[in-house]
Amino acid sequence: MPALNWIGKEQVVNHDKEVPFRLLKKVKSISVGENSQNLIIHGDNLEALKALMPYYCNKIKCIYIDPPYNTGNEGWVYNDNVNSTKIKRWLGKVVGGETEDLCRHDKWLCMMYPRLKLLKDLLKENGAIFVSIDDDEADHARALLDEIFGRQNFVATIIWQKKFSPQSDAKFFSDVHDYILVYSKNITNFRVKLLQRKESTNARYLNLDNDPRGLWMSSDFSVKTYSKKYDYPITTPSGKIVKATKGRCWATSKERFKEFVKDNRIWFGKNLNGVPRLKRFLSEVKEGIVPTTIWFYQEVGHNQEARQELKKIFRGKELLFDNPKPVRLIKRIIQLATDSDDLILDSFVGSGTTGQAVLELNKEDSGNRKFILVELEDAVAKNITAERIKRVIKSEKLDVGFEFCELDRPLFNSEGEIENECVFEQLATYIYFTETQTNIDKKQINKSYIGLSPDEINEYYLIFKEKHKNKLTKEFLKNLKKSTKRKIVYADFCLISQDELDKYNIEFKQIPYEIKRY
Ligand SMILES: C[S@@+](CC[C@H](N)C(=O)[O-])C[C@H]1O[C@@H](n2cnc3c(N)ncnc32)[C@H](O)[C@@H]1O
Repeated sequence: MPALNWIGKEQVVNHDKEVPFRLLKKVKSISVGENSQNLIIHGDNLEALKALMPYYCNKIKCIYIDPPYNTGNEGWVYNDNVNSTKIKRWLGKVVGGETEDLCRHDKWLCMMYPRLKLLKDLLKENGAIFVSIDDDEADHARALLDEIFGRQNFVATIIWQKKFSPQSDAKFFSDVHDYILVYSKNITNFRVKLLQRKESTNARYLNLDNDPRGLWMSSDFSVKTYSKKYDYPITTPSGKIVKATKGRCWATSKERFKEFVKDNRIWFGKNLNGVPRLKRFLSEVKEGIVPTTIWFYQEVGHNQEARQELKKIFRGKELLFDNPKPVRLIKRIIQLATDSDDLILDSFVGSGTTGQAVLELNKEDSGNRKFILVELEDAVAKNITAERIKRVIKSEKLDVGFEFCELDRPLFNSEGEIENECVFEQLATYIYFTETQTNIDKKQINKSYIGLSPDEINEYYLIFKEKHKNKLTKEFLKNLKKSTKRKIVYADFCLISQDELDKYNIEFKQIPYEIKRY
């Protein structure tokens, strides 16, 4: 398959593996409630996504991202180019001396590549990612997504009408749409939901012949794909003989047509001498409408609506954030791609629209969806993202909360030692993940036992109380599960002989050296 190349690509293709694993530190003063399982993280999403991996790998059902469009506009609240000081510093570190030669498209691609790789790892097998973008980077984004997610997992390019009136100062055409690129993790497992039918659509269903099966609408009984077998004359109940218009034929065979007539499914018009039409009952189509790839502003909102929404929440204060998305737009995405208890992630969250959309949708359908939101800029994360969600919770009187987290130090310091702040559960989660590539089930943790591998071959144990003093002793053997499975035990020291380890089917792994780096 053709692949896109750019300056710096070599340095970033495996960069996701080099990002240090950091712990997350809850900031109580900004958080709301306890154990809500909703998260807002302040920090670079590259490190935030990595920090989430031991907890959420293969767990997210729907990812929505609205990354900087790279329009060249640097004067916004957040930097729309990849020229923000933080990203510039990151590029300098990762790409090195070559950074000087990078054009803004190279930089954008370098920035997106490792982040998209981590996002893919976080997605569930039946999950999907929705990426907002415009013509500045749409072609590059498609090529990147093809490479990372696989072209076979492409679902659709949606066109969202973001404006409704043309801009008279446009140089050529007035641009009134954005794209939303949709990729599944695995197209064979992905399902898109149907859109709820609107009252106005249902109103087109009538019951002109008082059919006991209820409301119906008629549709053309002739088709364009011609078949001689289906081209037969039909006698209407009033005795008139009708044929399909030239070049067309009927939709079914003569025999099937007779069955339809017998079942009162054919409508010949009030006077019983019209061209036959097929009756479709509302009760049969009620489950919903297949979504199309063009989303008009009347259905999902527009830029202006999004600005007004934000202004209303912040009580008319001068606009704090440039280019938020309308809540209705994100709600539509979540509606189509999630069940009522799924996890939704937005790692370029900006003003927090995705969080509000999740909360509103849960309120509407009594759902229990959870969100994880990540924002790079300190002032945006605290004063806009978290503050907006707080205000929505308060004004809607919702019984939910969120944890606001900062990225803490890396789990391993520069000497390869485990950070002093690291607690048992964090290390257990990390070790279980690096051993199994799946997430720990906290309910399984029992003293030093931290879980069984998914293939049920290995049991994992962690002895971790006081740094540098964790010993695998004879005493510990008494706590082992009475099973024949292989037991992998992590500790600082091992005080029992190899013979005895073999007898108990134990493999000792020394902290920190034998902890795999993810
Ligand atoms: C286009 S805005 C998103 C707007 C959002 N959809 C809304 O409705 O408010 C992009 C956001 O991503 C943030 N961002 C940029 N690079 C980031 C990174 N590496 N990690 C986390 N956030 C980042 C920017 O600060 C900005 O707030």
